[in-house]
Amino acid sequence: MKEVVKLRNGEKILIRHVIESDIDGIWNNFNEVVDEKIYLPVLFPVRSKFEKQSWFHNIQKEREICIIAIHPTMVSPYNILGQCEISNLEWDAATHVGSLGIIVQRNFRDLGIGFNLIDKAIRESKRLNKEKIILSSFLDNERALFLYKKIGFKTTGIRKKQFYMDSVYYDEVLMELWIDDYINKNP
Ligand SMILES: CC(C)(COP(=O)(O)OP(=O)(O)OC[C@H]1O[C@@H](n2cnc3c(N)ncnc32)[C@H](O)[C@@H]1OP(=O)(O)O)[C@@H](O)C(=O)NCCC(=O)NCCS
Repeated sequence: MKEVVKLRNGEKILIRHVIESDIDGIWNNFNEVVDEKIYLPVLFPVRSKFEKQSWFHNIQKEREICIIAIHPTMVSPYNILGQCEISNLEWDAATHVGSLGIIVQRNFRDLGIGFNLIDKAIRESKRLNKEKIILSSFLDNERALFLYKKIGFKTTGIRKKQFYMDSVYYDEVLMELWIDDYINKNP
């Protein structure tokens, strides 16, 4: 899967599956969001090369999905504008379910990258026999929730005060989407 997508600002970007040389850009994006301290329940950035590479090798071993957005002219690792991962659950009896995580570089948000990453990740999940995508988000992450609802995710529950960071409690929203519903509505 390789697709060129036009953003709201007129720029064209490439969307494709992750390869090993993308690892640094992906972890730069992850660490940027950890530093923002308001979107992810993670307290410390990931700096270890071993941990970064293990993540990539695990994706390959478990046949998980990571779709990335690439800027055509920016230099590596900053050319990796965002990533959407569909991970397997830990349960043998839930191989039909994928868990979605997504990050877009701060300077490239609200341009349509998140929508395109999720759209492609859902379609690739279908090819791997997934039937349902689940995710979770902080209840106050308005942009993420807007995007998930726009795509068709439905709220299945709220865990009150599920996270505690820098002396603040955060409620967690749980959501799910049936892949066939999405593809039927967006053929
Ligand atoms: C959430 C995130 C992945 C979305 O990616 P993105 O590229 O910004 O998403 P898009 O541009 O496709 O869509 C964002 C939508 O939210 C809308 N939006 C922006 N701020 C908003 C707000 N405060 N309230 C409601 N909607 C908002 C935008 O207008 C856009 O909708 P539109 O395309 O219909 O106009 C990205 O913003 C991000 O990485 N945020 C920080 C990390 C994060 O929150 N990850 C998810 C954790 S659950």
